[in-house]
Amino acid sequence: SQRTLVLLKPDAVRRGLVGEIIGRIESKAGWKITALELRALERPTLEQHYAEHEGKPFYAPLVEFMLSGPSVAMVVEGERVIEGVRALAGPTDPIAAAPGSIRGDYGTIVRENLIHASDSEQSAERELKIFFPDFA
Ligand code: GTP
Ligand code: MG
Repeated sequence: SQRTLVLLKPDAVRRGLVGEIIGRIESKAGWKITALELRALERPTLEQHYAEHEGKPFYAPLVEFMLSGPSVAMVVEGERVIEGVRALAGPTDPIAAAPGSIRGDYGTIVRENLIHASDSEQSAERELKIFFPDFA
């Protein structure tokens, strides 16, 4: 099976949607949350995480937004969980996301789109090392 890094972004925490979002993930058969922490993410961590977006117009506001309050960082393990959490989240732009998806149900603003989930096995391994360096 696979594992993925999931971040519930500061908007999700501020709006009290953590339980609701975690519930959707926990409901999926066979998936397991194996690490979870409410955490104020630090700038160097975010710069590493979002390195691929450095130089894009949305990069600086994205990092500032991610510094605006604590996030919930977690590791989720299970069958096809990388593709699966992305499917639960919906597309990056919440207005394009279908109702029934997390972003489609709760989001309006592209930057404040509630959740991050690794987009490939390679990204997952890279991101898990950044956020959970001691995780076996
Ligand atoms: P993550 O799961 O957070 O990585 O989202 P994603 O994979 O759906 O999007 P991507 O990695 O392309 O971009 C990372 C984050 O930057 C997004 O989740 C948004 O919060 C933000 N973002 C991406 N594209 C745009 C954009 O065109 N405008 C703005 N304002 N923000 C963007
Ligand atoms: Mg991404």
